[in-house]
Amino acid sequence: MSDTGNLIIVSNRVAKPKPGGRAAGGLTVGILGALRDQGGTWFGWSGKLVDREPRDAQISEHDNIRFATIDLKGEDYEAYYNGFSNRALWPLFHHLLAFFSFDRADFEGYFRVNQIFARKLVPLLEPNDTIWIHDYHLIPLAGELRKAGVRNPIGFFLHVPFPGYDMLESLPNHEFLIRSMCAFDVVGFHTQRDLDSFHEAVKQPEIGGTVDSDGRIHIGGGSLFAGVFPIGIDVEEVSGLADSMYDDAEVTAMRQSLDGREMIIGVDRLDYSKGLALRFRAYERLLENHPAHRKHLTLMQIAPPTRVGIRAYDEIRNELEQASGQINGRFADTDWVPIRYLNKGFSRATLMGFFRSAQIGLVTPVRDGMNLVAKEYVASQDPESPGMLVLSRLAGAAHELETAVLVNPYDIDDVADGINRALVMPVEERRERHSEMMTVLRHNDITAWRQRFVEALHAERKT
Ligand code: G6P
Repeated sequence: MSDTGNLIIVSNRVAKPKPGGRAAGGLTVGILGALRDQGGTWFGWSGKLVDREPRDAQISEHDNIRFATIDLKGEDYEAYYNGFSNRALWPLFHHLLAFFSFDRADFEGYFRVNQIFARKLVPLLEPNDTIWIHDYHLIPLAGELRKAGVRNPIGFFLHVPFPGYDMLESLPNHEFLIRSMCAFDVVGFHTQRDLDSFHEAVKQPEIGGTVDSDGRIHIGGGSLFAGVFPIGIDVEEVSGLADSMYDDAEVTAMRQSLDGREMIIGVDRLDYSKGLALRFRAYERLLENHPAHRKHLTLMQIAPPTRVGIRAYDEIRNELEQASGQINGRFADTDWVPIRYLNKGFSRATLMGFFRSAQIGLVTPVRDGMNLVAKEYVASQDPESPGMLVLSRLAGAAHELETAVLVNPYDIDDVADGINRALVMPVEERRERHSEMMTVLRHNDITAWRQRFVEALHAERKT
């Protein structure tokens, strides 16, 4: 153990590696990447639901990472995860108020689970440890740990966007939430836009914070640091996987089935924030406006179901089945189907092989904290003849990948034109844009993300 102790990472979801496991969301990919070389403990929910009070954390170890997991009671999970986290905070933070709903009992469950996390975590902590808490499920956790007497530095990273105050105000207890974020020592966001919104929130008269020019926030007699720490990927790992998986049997069979056609690929959790229905309509518009592409193009959309049981997620599934069916019905021919829509997941390695095989990576969320698929698509390309990323301006990744083809996902003509521009782009231009994006990806890679955040947190260590 170093004199700065162990790194203790806490998140709702803990991804113990499973053989043949499916690719995970951005948070798990990021945390796994951050812990793999440095080691540490990862604490969170086991994925299991029980009917009695949860036991103490169960500990196991895989490749340098100590996993500490707790079970949750079904009713707590329903209120905390399905309820307040995913029916209130997720849509609110993604600026999608039409999907937002609030229920006091859900909020109570959310708070209760944060208290349980604190109770189960405290016995595992050593005085020198550094605690790094992730995402919107666990905003009150620092406050609860402080109440339990924990004095270690505690950081928070938000993987989703942070909305402006006019949006935040819709949440009845937004003041509690903002104050809870101020109980951390360091708070990190993906983009300057998110940080600006946080500053705007803490400066509201009812919150009463002030912000120094160096990013220090003063509030209620205490202070914290808030900054921008864009999450990245392990660039060499991704490009190595893409290289080696290009000739994998499943990837080769998929490519052969294209029969020489170009492929557009989309890979997203089946989430309304990913803009999938609009994306299908934009592809339809492309086929309408550019008939030359018909029969020469395939859109392969991979969308594994997520948060099943929450109504909005079940509805989007039906909506997309209808939209893909309609578009295929309209354009398909005896030897061509325009959209391959797959409701299942693939291993990360296979996905990188698919990315390498696709001329266009289509990433068009209507709002996204970062979007690591965009970064993985770019890093998977052959630098000699790279495919092009068509990226939503409303994803955090657009703040870094400025030489992607940037589009507004709400404007299906803009997206259709963007895809067409990417398809006809000369190879020299693709190479140049790709190389600029790779420079950014290497600069802000997963190691840099972890190092910058943990350094900021160590700087907060009170002597
Ligand atoms: C996003 C969130 C993560 C979450 C992931 C998958 O990336 O920021 O916190 O883990 O989606 O969603 P799920 O609800 O399945 O954990």
